[in-house]
Amino acid sequence: MKYISERNLTPGQIVRELDTYIIGQKEAKRSVAIALRNRWRRLNSDPEIRDEIMPNNILMIGPTGVGKTEIARRLAKLSGAPFIKVEASKFTEVGYVGRDVESMIRDLTDLAVNMVRMEMQERVREKAKAIVEEKILDILIPPVRKRAAGTPPAVTTTESTAGFNPDKADDSELNERTRARFREKLKNGELEDRNIEIEVNSSKTPMMQVFGPQGMEEMGVNIQDMLGNLARGGRKTKRTLPISEAREILIEQESEKLIDHEAAVEEALERVQNQGIVFIDEIDKVASDSSSGKGSADVSRQGVQRDLLPIVEGSTVNTKHGIVRTDHILFIGSGAFHISKPSDLIPELQGRFPIRVELNSLTESDFVNILTKPKNALIKQYQAMLSSENVKIEFSEEAILEIARIAAEVNSEVENIGARRLHTILSSLLEELLFAVPDDISDTEITIDESYVHKQLDGLVRNKDLSHYIL
Ligand SMILES: Nc1ncnc2c1ncn2[C@@H]1O[C@H](COP(=O)(O)OP(=O)(O)OP(=O)(O)O)[C@@H](O)[C@H]1O
Ligand SMILES: [Mg+2]
Repeated sequence: MKYISERNLTPGQIVRELDTYIIGQKEAKRSVAIALRNRWRRLNSDPEIRDEIMPNNILMIGPTGVGKTEIARRLAKLSGAPFIKVEASKFTEVGYVGRDVESMIRDLTDLAVNMVRMEMQERVREKAKAIVEEKILDILIPPVRKRAAGTPPAVTTTESTAGFNPDKADDSELNERTRARFREKLKNGELEDRNIEIEVNSSKTPMMQVFGPQGMEEMGVNIQDMLGNLARGGRKTKRTLPISEAREILIEQESEKLIDHEAAVEEALERVQNQGIVFIDEIDKVASDSSSGKGSADVSRQGVQRDLLPIVEGSTVNTKHGIVRTDHILFIGSGAFHISKPSDLIPELQGRFPIRVELNSLTESDFVNILTKPKNALIKQYQAMLSSENVKIEFSEEAILEIARIAAEVNSEVENIGARRLHTILSSLLEELLFAVPDDISDTEITIDESYVHKQLDGLVRNKDLSHYIL
């Protein structure tokens, strides 16, 4: 089952997939597409040389809100690779109380383990489901042979014996027939609302995240594990739930049992090491500021860079799942580099990000496309939200042009925050509407036209104080 999750997309296909979400930024897309394909090439190359081939770490340079993070995130999604985004500036705290840089590899590994487990669970789901149906049946109508002599059958409903003459059938035959009937009912979904009591282990709270005091990890104490073990160590609670809900919980429990956890961890480690992507955001923030003198903040920034170096260069990191080699993890650094320049990074680190791509500022016509074209375009998002209330909204072409124009204007006059400006503008534009639905507006079609845009936004745009705060 190795590497099945990595789809073998060609660079051209990768760029086309990215195009469905991100407007423009052709060069950046090409670079990441090549880097991703190169990893597949490496994995499929002669084993003699495979370990020698280094990943092409990328430095993405560009102003805020132009798609740097978005490109990396989409890349990870479409490749199915374990992906983590960290902020380099999180590691800057003077005195170094922050998280150690190795924690990003530990987090990435946790993530990969979860990812593989989920996939494995998905694969055994049908099997688990079959087991669970029998379990539910056992709860409803316990089979005779499992019943201790003398205890009455745990049939909770009267209807279950209806239609049978208990005098004529002996116990086990009756039980079998009742079970058959209930099995049928279960299959037909007739019992979904009936309550049953099941055991739930409290450890099964997959979203539980515990953040210990910072630095605890370094001491080798993992609070989450401790708590996890505590919970696993037997805290089983009984809960009464409708079958429809109980089934999901039972299926999860069963599929947990069916998967091979060791194999999952092994596969996860493999994936992290060969396909993992670490996106280091705001890497410019740890570059020394070339214009200012050498202060203590500068020293600490350089310290972070030095800590990053071995990880990016290739070293081993101890995780609770095992040792991870970072040699072939793809690192994508990203930053605006307004104040500092890539050349302000320590030379060794610069050398570790050999591919530089610049992302362009977004123009008015990019905004038009961003509003309408991507699969997750903002306008589509609002349309989807409102359609859940039976309100259909359309935007006229002129309205969209006007929104894009206003976004570009506010960006140039207040501050350039790239495509994020569209979020603030659309939420101001639609605020009144979003509030009025469904109380005052419902079951209708609305067209947002140019005059509506002017009505809602002109005041804000003209008043510079307001646009500073609101747009
Ligand atoms: N080129 C683009 N095409 C489509 N959407 C975009 C584009 N650029 C940015 N966006 C949208 O703008 C938002 C911010 O983009 P993103 O997070 O990629 O910014 P960034 O370049 O990483 O900025 P920062 O330097 O502040 O981290 C995202 O929600 C994204 O959907
Ligand atoms: Mg970003």
